[in-house]
Amino acid sequence: MADARLRTWLCVMLGIQILLKTEAVNIGITYVQNAVAKGAVCLDGSPPAYHFDKGFGTGADNWLVHFEGGGWCNNVTTCLARKETRLGSSKKMAKEVAFSGILSNKQSFNLDFYNWNRIKVRYCDGASFTGDVEAVDPDTNLHFRGARVFVAIIEDLLSKGMSNAQNAILSGCSAGGLTSILHCDRFRALVPASAEVKCLADAGYFINLKDISGAQHIGTFYSEVVATHGSAKNLPTSCTSKLRPGLCFFPQNVVEQIQTPLFILNAAYDSWQIKNILAPGVADPHGTWHSCKLDINNCSPDQLQIMQDFRLQFLSALSIVGTSPSRGMFIDSCYSHCQSEMQETWLRDDSPVLAKTSIAKAVGDWYYDRSPFQKIDCAYPCNPTCHNRVFDPNEHPENIAPQSHEPSLSSPSPAYKRPKMQLLSWLVSFFIFNFHPR
Ligand SMILES: *[C@@H]1O[C@H](CO)[C@@H](O)[C@H](O)[C@H]1NC(C)=O
Repeated sequence: MADARLRTWLCVMLGIQILLKTEAVNIGITYVQNAVAKGAVCLDGSPPAYHFDKGFGTGADNWLVHFEGGGWCNNVTTCLARKETRLGSSKKMAKEVAFSGILSNKQSFNLDFYNWNRIKVRYCDGASFTGDVEAVDPDTNLHFRGARVFVAIIEDLLSKGMSNAQNAILSGCSAGGLTSILHCDRFRALVPASAEVKCLADAGYFINLKDISGAQHIGTFYSEVVATHGSAKNLPTSCTSKLRPGLCFFPQNVVEQIQTPLFILNAAYDSWQIKNILAPGVADPHGTWHSCKLDINNCSPDQLQIMQDFRLQFLSALSIVGTSPSRGMFIDSCYSHCQSEMQETWLRDDSPVLAKTSIAKAVGDWYYDRSPFQKIDCAYPCNPTCHNRVFDPNEHPENIAPQSHEPSLSSPSPAYKRPKMQLLSWLVSFFIFNFHPR
């Protein structure tokens, strides 16, 4: 009797654990070998790569191409360092990544895109897929070919069925969100004209702002990125015909001319922008912003005031997006960065809402023209549904090495857990253990 009970209990526990694990499914890597002949390679010359989960049912002809983020490298020194990492070489990439949030294959976790063909493109060029320098210095073996990689990846996906696409979305997070802005119309042109094509930029709206010391830190940095990677010729000509190429790396200078429908998803207090654009380590030699950047609850009233000013500048830069219904906007007053890839922010019972609407529903309603969505939250701390980031000081070297634009949040945290569900599974087991009729 006791044995039978124990067996039942163990089976139930095992079953629930398996169910919980399937919240995020691991998807294997595909190397785009045929890109190498086109010179479309990662920083170290290795082939680019993506992870592809095939669409099914009514989603079989729908394609979501999502670009990974991970900062940028602005000169030979920082690109050489990146070349040795997964952000510069497919030889260093994990063979599998977890698909969750907008990449999930479960309807309950991903209302509108769960059965689409879902692709996560790995970031490996260091310039949001804009670079193209023919010459390769034999001393460094650095390849600045991001723009070629972008085209090679899309061409490869076209050959794998995207040429029959009915619906397609170009999306991305952080530096990948910037990719989806800078390449939005190019993607539109590569996908068949009969397809409904839209772009989604998650945490990709980086603004041109003076840092707390008054220096043009991000402006200088972007100019160096564009110069090092030879990106100018691949940035929208509507911008480069008027402004310095470095400025055309900023969404606020290109977004007005984008013809394809575009959705901007961004936290108004974007944690990456606060840490690296507003208060980068170089601008804060005494580290007075250190603990505030780790946890918004630690910020002093003065720092919060500066962050409120940041929000106003962010909203001002965002106003250029305009109010056409083809433009979507979800600007929550949270301290976070990238909210589409993580289940906890994309769609969950407690995920962030604006006007009672989750990010997943807002993006789906906009994509399918069910209703436009353009909402800007009231100022911090008015939204209790935020999942504000709290950083571990040891995990984020940019606080010590201010020049590093390594991503703190280029991918969802693998340690992500759902305490509530764990508790629920224990309760269910307990219930069955005690009351299961035998
Ligand atoms: C490269 O960029 C980093 C970060 O901005 C900077 O600290 C470093 O001095 C630069 N190196 C060169 C050789 O310009």
